[in-house]
Amino acid sequence: MKKIAVLTSGGDAPGMNAAIRAVVRMALHNGLEVMGVQRGYAGLVNGELFKMDRSSVSDIIQRGGTILRTARCLEFKQEETRIKAANILKAYGVDALVVIGGDGSFMGAKLLSKLGVKTIGLPGTIDNDLAYTDYTIGFDTALNTALDAINKLRDTSTSHERVSVVEIMGRDCGDLALYAGIAGGAESIIVPEKGYDKDDLCRVILEGKANGKMHNLVLVAEGIGGSNELAKYIESVTGIETRATILGHIQRGGSPTASDRVLASRLGARAVELLMEEKTCRVVGIRNNEVVDDDIDEALAMERKFDDKLYEIAKALSY
Ligand code: F6P
Repeated sequence: MKKIAVLTSGGDAPGMNAAIRAVVRMALHNGLEVMGVQRGYAGLVNGELFKMDRSSVSDIIQRGGTILRTARCLEFKQEETRIKAANILKAYGVDALVVIGGDGSFMGAKLLSKLGVKTIGLPGTIDNDLAYTDYTIGFDTALNTALDAINKLRDTSTSHERVSVVEIMGRDCGDLALYAGIAGGAESIIVPEKGYDKDDLCRVILEGKANGKMHNLVLVAEGIGGSNELAKYIESVTGIETRATILGHIQRGGSPTASDRVLASRLGARAVELLMEEKTCRVVGIRNNEVVDDDIDEALAMERKFDDKLYEIAKALSY
């Protein structure tokens, strides 16, 4: 192993820069050369590679987004595109690629490894939707961003004695909504893993009002969606003024939390160690606070377990 490359792919996540920094610096520390790839797989296919040194990653650990930029590259599903990418890496003398992204990006890494490029994946997504790792890089920061917004919405909801429906990102995964809900003291948490009954929700809201609640926070995961319509429905059934707020991409930005920076540094360093051991087609994650690595196929086949216990606790604490 002499030369590695690193790219970020899919939706960006706070902490990606800390992961890039860890990969670059750990590789250089071990005498490897490093190339950065701009714009994910799309940039790789266009040959957007550049040499990185220690100063290339100076002053980025605290920055949101990704200095390498990112893209979703649908063309990478085609074998001819992947062959082109593998040839470009060979032409640059790159033996291995570290991919920071989510499940789609890992699939790309796996297919690329079949063409002789060693690949290691790092979980960079705010969604926390990868079963093999307890936490993904970016989840904690996005959670705290959502929490900050919820705290503010609680102020204005209380002043106006309104219901506030807040839609939280996470594609098909309810983790961000669940954790933000429990941390923000939401009255109701609606996630795709559990579903919900609209009239039951209205009943809970009316009970809360009867018990003297000054506001009612309803968190809706993106996978459920329809927050504006839900707000109208709640208002029509309960007679309580209701407003919907879709937090959207604000959750993807911002300076990463300490927890995300530490996670990114640990996982990034392990990715390089694995490459030094000539390992390939693996993803690095964290389980029970231990850094782990799994075969990409096995990791992607693992079934994600929703935290039912936490969901029940949130319910018990909410009224
Ligand atoms: O995967 C991260 C994520 O932010 C999801 O929560 C969301 O569904 C999706 O990306 C949005 O993608 P885009 O930035 O392409 O609109």
